Amino acid sequence: MNKLDMLNLTPGLLYEVLCGTYNSNELPNLATMGIRLNHELVLFPYITSQTFKNIEKTQSCSLNFSDDAWIFAWACFEKDRVKPFLKAGLHTNSPVLLGATAVVECKIKQITSTSDESRCAVKCQPIYVKVQPKFVPFTRAFSLIVEMLIHATRIAHFKALGDKNKVHELKQYILYYAQIITRVARTDYPIIAEYILKQVGLKNASDS
Ligand SMILES: Cc1cc2nc3c(=O)[nH]c(=O)nc-3n(C[C@H](O)[C@H](O)[C@H](O)COP(=O)(O)O)c2cc1C
Repeated sequence: MNKLDMLNLTPGLLYEVLCGTYNSNELPNLATMGIRLNHELVLFPYITSQTFKNIEKTQSCSLNFSDDAWIFAWACFEKDRVKPFLKAGLHTNSPVLLGATAVVECKIKQITSTSDESRCAVKCQPIYVKVQPKFVPFTRAFSLIVEMLIHATRIAHFKALGDKNKVHELKQYILYYAQIITRVARTDYPIIAEYILKQVGLKNASDS
């Protein structure tokens, strides 16, 4: 049986994971990244990302699936807060996420360029796969948090490019998603949405 069969991934679909790598000072790093199954697992990190630098050096990474929206948010904005949830992987030179619904420890098989020169394609060879028997019912709130985070992490890039219209557009979407989250969830999700609004300056840190 193929190691990846346990994950039940659909080829062609982009899944959002938390990618664990080690920095050159041996400190663990966790970053949200998309991964696609195209015969093999492929990551598409920006070449400027810490994750890409780490992967080039260590030739390993872990792909951690999670239903914990806080972990996604902290991995974007406050990486120190995820460190207590990371431990050394036993099969590769990469940290793994405690509480992940599935973990894939990988060696890097190949790194190639893509048509988008700001990103590379990183083929990951699974060495060890662990799937937790946890049923996760679907909620719009989780997807919307992820969408807020994707838009939020793009703001810095468009600011750097001086594209004020795009920054404005991203902020409008972020506000709109936050409104929906407040409507559909009476849990931690609205609190996480508010946290993201504060991180991108759409709400004051002093507002409750
Ligand atoms: C859900 C989600 C998916 C993302 N997918 C990618 C991706 O595929 N490649 C990438 O380079 N950045 C992606 N990002 C942005 C990175 O997470 C962000 O730039 C992060 O700061 C990179 O961290 P690092 O520099 O420690 O690698 C994504 C962000 C989110 C919220």
